[in-house]
Amino acid sequence: MDYRKRILNLLEYKNHLKVINNKLYIDNISLETIAEKYGTPTFVYSEKRIRENYRKFYKAFRKRYKDVEIRYAMKANSNPYILKVLKEEGSGIDAVSVNEIKLAISIGFSTDKIIYTGVNRTKQELEYAIRQGVLINVDSLSELDKVIRICEKNKIKANISFRYNPEIDVKTHKHIATGLKESKFGLHENDAFIAYKKAKKCKYLNVIGIHMHIGSQITSPEPFEKASEKLLRFAGKIKNELGIKIKIIDFGGGLGIKYKAEQQSIDVDDLATVLIKKYHEAMEKYNLDECKILLEPGRYIVADSCVLLTRVTAVKHTPYKKFVGVDAGFNLLIRPVLYDAYHETVIVNEVFRNEYERYDIVGYLCESGDVLAKDRELPKVQEGDIIAFLDTGAYCSVMASNYNMRERALEVAVKDSSTIIIRRRESYDDLISVYKI
Ligand code: LLP
Repeated sequence: MDYRKRILNLLEYKNHLKVINNKLYIDNISLETIAEKYGTPTFVYSEKRIRENYRKFYKAFRKRYKDVEIRYAMKANSNPYILKVLKEEGSGIDAVSVNEIKLAISIGFSTDKIIYTGVNRTKQELEYAIRQGVLINVDSLSELDKVIRICEKNKIKANISFRYNPEIDVKTHKHIATGLKESKFGLHENDAFIAYKKAKKCKYLNVIGIHMHIGSQITSPEPFEKASEKLLRFAGKIKNELGIKIKIIDFGGGLGIKYKAEQQSIDVDDLATVLIKKYHEAMEKYNLDECKILLEPGRYIVADSCVLLTRVTAVKHTPYKKFVGVDAGFNLLIRPVLYDAYHETVIVNEVFRNEYERYDIVGYLCESGDVLAKDRELPKVQEGDIIAFLDTGAYCSVMASNYNMRERALEVAVKDSSTIIIRRRESYDDLISVYKI
């Protein structure tokens, strides 16, 4: 698809991004002006869009079922500013590390709205979480033993649920499918049964839930439907055979967004319809009790709220290829390299031009693999242009590194037509402060 069609198609789905006088705007502020004011590389977030995504997601489920709550997967983006926005919206948190739990608590999330879904955790990490009273999604039989030992030794109670592996294949990149037969996550059915049975016997454990998370960037409801069917049947089995009343059913996260004109994002209304229908059917069929339903979206809430602004530092024609070089690299945007991910690219200072060319957009790192966009048609690029990489709100800034001793980027939020720095640019001193010199 040519550049113009691609961009116009994608912008239709993003009411926070607009082309005005051939320049790209975010919530009525020119991105070129933001780049001039703050420099590049810079992540720019629309607070309005984050709130909108959250509300759309929550409402889709809430209008179909009253006892539903969101636990935002903060691994997608843990900038405290964004966490505060989501707390205001009523979200809880899905945390995967002790530091995530600590940050969530310091922002004011109450511990009964935090769940802890980690893998291969240490005794110290589990003990910290148990003492905070957060709900722990136990991942394996050996982890269950660890939790029991901690509780018995310290005579403290823990709220737990188990991560159930539904063995469902999903059409996504292999690195982000998590509920496959071969996945390292969760308990397969037989072990899950043993785990619930064992947990029931321990007086220190409140066994209150069941959890699944089948993968990320999933763009159709079918895998969720199949997986939830298995999970609910299993919840019925442990109720009817072990007498365990599940109070919390957590369907995880994983909703995919539209990164590319040719792609579909998941329709959250369709997903909510499917999951709530399955739930109601299962209640009758397996005699389940009324439950709280939890969902853990990450990407869906934040991904499309953000663009990464970069400046073109070189345009290079070799006998074989045309390259556009920018002042960012896979240290800031690792998704293309790690998952073959596609992030749309727009020249913000002059969105459309008369001449077009095909380029590889490459970064400033000294590695051949530092390719941020491959064989991409763009308006004829000039040195000094500002290129925005779209949909960089999830799993970009949080996965950034200091490779090549590069500073991580500045982050700016747009709120009510003004801009706020929500993470300062790192400096040379920040980078070396951890070393003995
Ligand atoms: N819950 C659990 C237990 C998870 O492991 C994850 C993501 C989520 C919720 C949120 O999934 P989401 O709604 O954001 O898809 N770095 C990869 C994505 C890794 C996802 C890991 N787990 C990427 O850039 O695509």
